[in-house]
Amino acid sequence: MALRTQVGIVGAGPAGLVLAHLLDQAGIESVILEARAREYVEERVRAGVLEQGTADLLDAMGLGERMHSEGIVHHGIYLRFRRESHRIPLSDLTGGRAIWIYGQQEVVKDLIEARLAAGQQLLFEVSDVSVSGFDGDSPRIRFSRNGESEEIECDVIAGCDGFHGVCRPAIESALTVYNHEYPFGWLGILARVPPSTDELVYTNHERGFALHSLRSPELSRLYIQCDPHDDIANWSDDRIWDEMHARFATNDGWELNEGPVLEKGITPMRSFIVQPMQRGRLYLAGDAAHIVPPTGAKGLNLAVHDVKLLAAALTRWYESGDSSLLEAYSDACLRRVWRVQHFSWWMTSMLHRLGDADDFENQLQLAQLDYVTSSRAAATTLAENYVGLEDV
Ligand code: FAD
Ligand code: DHB
Repeated sequence: MALRTQVGIVGAGPAGLVLAHLLDQAGIESVILEARAREYVEERVRAGVLEQGTADLLDAMGLGERMHSEGIVHHGIYLRFRRESHRIPLSDLTGGRAIWIYGQQEVVKDLIEARLAAGQQLLFEVSDVSVSGFDGDSPRIRFSRNGESEEIECDVIAGCDGFHGVCRPAIESALTVYNHEYPFGWLGILARVPPSTDELVYTNHERGFALHSLRSPELSRLYIQCDPHDDIANWSDDRIWDEMHARFATNDGWELNEGPVLEKGITPMRSFIVQPMQRGRLYLAGDAAHIVPPTGAKGLNLAVHDVKLLAAALTRWYESGDSSLLEAYSDACLRRVWRVQHFSWWMTSMLHRLGDADDFENQLQLAQLDYVTSSRAAATTLAENYVGLEDV
């Protein structure tokens, strides 16, 4: 027997979960289908920076309590190059806006707990998911659960199933695809060690990019640029720390704390966008539609922005039959997606050792870093993009 709902959501990442909450607040029913187990989704270590607007949205949804008690507000970041740190005072340059350090998996935990506590539908460990009927007015999602085939009939399908999901491929033949792969990846670690810095440090070094981030007073999150095809098995903890020490070294005797590595992995980097982000009654949101390189800390924030627009458009449609916001959904999202894509590419280009770059390009990077850290206008450009532009 088919299950009936208003919005069928594929994927319980930040996009799918935030969408479901916003819809619920507007009195719109949804079912979320997730391929993975709850524990897996809640433990997946990913992004850690929330833009001011993302944090404000979590607050407005009544889900900001743990973010306020366990998250950390940051008012600046450091850019480190030529072995010296230069602070970008984000809040001073943006009229008081800031960022929150709060792990993506903590956001996901809060969203899942609230959804299940409210007795709403969120099905984990589904398989063989396929979408159909979205070109007409009876979209369907077929899937298997516990060895049984099941089906959801809905008004609209939200494809929030990430880069490797099934929703984008279902419409890809009708889309324009923009794909740019970078010749490097990030090796990321989570370590049980107090952070060696009060604010994030983005480092340009001749051995490659390095980023010092954090999760709590006891947990540090660090990344180094690496070969995207490298095997993590080639990186012993000692080798990782040696490389970190070399790249973060300063002239003023700053010390990097070392501790047990709890998690490590390599992520390739790409810029990817499909246009449009919709077809018929199927709407893509988040990583299903676009990927940014992580240097701007934007992937999660962009996903949340998409679904904010989608929820508003669906609310208007259900309340008044007016489909104008739904029709304009893709264009409205893509304005911000391209802005953020440019910012992420720019940060990436300024901070990484570029494949076979000659010394000319390295000198250009340093000239740009000198400018960004000495001109208020240039620093403001970085700051307002980093905390998240309000009107794009
Ligand atoms: P996702 O979080 O990917 O959620 C999609 C969900 O759909 C997943 O739970 C997946 O299991 C599920 N799914 C997939 N296929 C199916 C299917 N067929 N049926 C049902 N469910 C399905 N951003 C940063 O800013 N900084 C970082 O350091 C950073 N690190 C990252 C590391 C990795 C390994 C990855 C993959 C991403 C990283 N990102 C980072 C990006 C950021 O985490 C994403 O932009 C963000 O997760 C996007 O949210 P989403 O909900 O769109 O997609
Ligand atoms: C983190 C990740 C990023 O991609 C970034 O630019 C800054 C911080 C993090 O995981 O903390």
